[in-house]
Amino acid sequence: MSKILIRGAQVLGGESQDVLIDGETIAAVGTGLSAEGAQVVEAAGQILLPGLVDLHTHLREPGREDSETVLTGTRAAAVGGFTAVHAMANTFPVADTAGVVEQVYRLGRESGYCDVQPVGAVTVGLEGKQLAELGAMHDSAAGVKVFSDDGKCVDDAVIMRRALEYVKAFDGVVAQHAQEPRLTEGAQMNEGVVSAELGLGGWPAVAEESIIARDVLLAAHVGSRLHICHLSTAGSVELVRWAKSKGWDVTAEVTPHHLLLTDELVRTYDPVYKVNPPLRTQADVLALREALADGTIDCVATDHAPHPHEDKDCEWGAAAMGMVGLETALSVVQETMVETGLLDWAGVADRMSFRPAVIGRLAGHGRPVAAGEPANLTLVDPAYRGAVDPAGFASRSRNTPYRGRELPGRVTHTFLRGRATVLDGKLA
Ligand code: DOR
Ligand code: ZN
Ligand code: ZN
Repeated sequence: MSKILIRGAQVLGGESQDVLIDGETIAAVGTGLSAEGAQVVEAAGQILLPGLVDLHTHLREPGREDSETVLTGTRAAAVGGFTAVHAMANTFPVADTAGVVEQVYRLGRESGYCDVQPVGAVTVGLEGKQLAELGAMHDSAAGVKVFSDDGKCVDDAVIMRRALEYVKAFDGVVAQHAQEPRLTEGAQMNEGVVSAELGLGGWPAVAEESIIARDVLLAAHVGSRLHICHLSTAGSVELVRWAKSKGWDVTAEVTPHHLLLTDELVRTYDPVYKVNPPLRTQADVLALREALADGTIDCVATDHAPHPHEDKDCEWGAAAMGMVGLETALSVVQETMVETGLLDWAGVADRMSFRPAVIGRLAGHGRPVAAGEPANLTLVDPAYRGAVDPAGFASRSRNTPYRGRELPGRVTHTFLRGRATVLDGKLA
């Protein structure tokens, strides 16, 4: 295996340093390192981060290969600076058995672009009635640690309690899509001023918050780990802050789109803005940013949700929910968190690599940029400015809310165990 010298990068946004990669490993970090026998990547002015880790990606394979495959989704992940993604279980068939999670795991390894850690379903068929084979998925070659019925809420309190009890045995975590189903029947967007004016069915904040309140209490009662997917309201932030103040083992994520966009955009009736949970208000956006900055929200997760154009280019009511996010996530975080002064680059490394790897108990990722560590790295040019052009996406889907919008920053290189998956801004 060859040597690569990354010269003069600002490691985690700090002092300019050289990083020598030898084979799959970081061999040295320092100044004035010898370039002998090494391919040189000139990185002056660029930020070097640990490879990003996504706790929440929809890769769609098996079953919806018209929207995404493990190969196209991991290529999109590499372009976005990710070296590991957690693949959600709402596939066809559902990832509720050892066989399906092993298949997804193997497809990820074969792709070579990004490690894929399958998420197992909590209940059989995501139907919320009967616990899936959590132990068998954990014991399988995929080594599943994160379980989620994402797309659907585990709304039965007894099933949720049993799931929390079960995963405790092997330090697993249940990741809840918090949506009280009765309170969101027929809902089309956030419930508030805009939904009232547009006459669209509203999705109240309390539908999310009531489930979070119940589940943090259940997690405390059982003494198990709970993770809450895509927080979207200021009230949810308060509940998580309270649960953490009690010392309960509760973590939470926020998506890039909930850090930037509001329900005012629904006035366009463009289904590209239709997403679950819905875009909320500016007050919610600001509360989410502050919570990510102060650590109440542990991490950013993309909820990359690819859909083919026929499922999105239709009237609002009929459109599928979700947005692609892998290829724009870091730019949106730079805009909303770094350029607002809320988070520095070390903070970005924490919220997009270190913490998600810890929550997922993922080995080999979210490690410090230091000698002896696996060379999973992302190099970012923060000075870049460019309009988002979905025609150039590596993802098979194009349903981005940022088409034509100028966003800051660009991933120039991604390294997965020492191999460049992205080189000079292009897939390698
Ligand atoms: O917008 C969403 N899309 N939210 C979800 O919870 C599921 C996801 C999907 O699978 O498309
Ligand atoms: Zn969800
Ligand atoms: Zn999701």
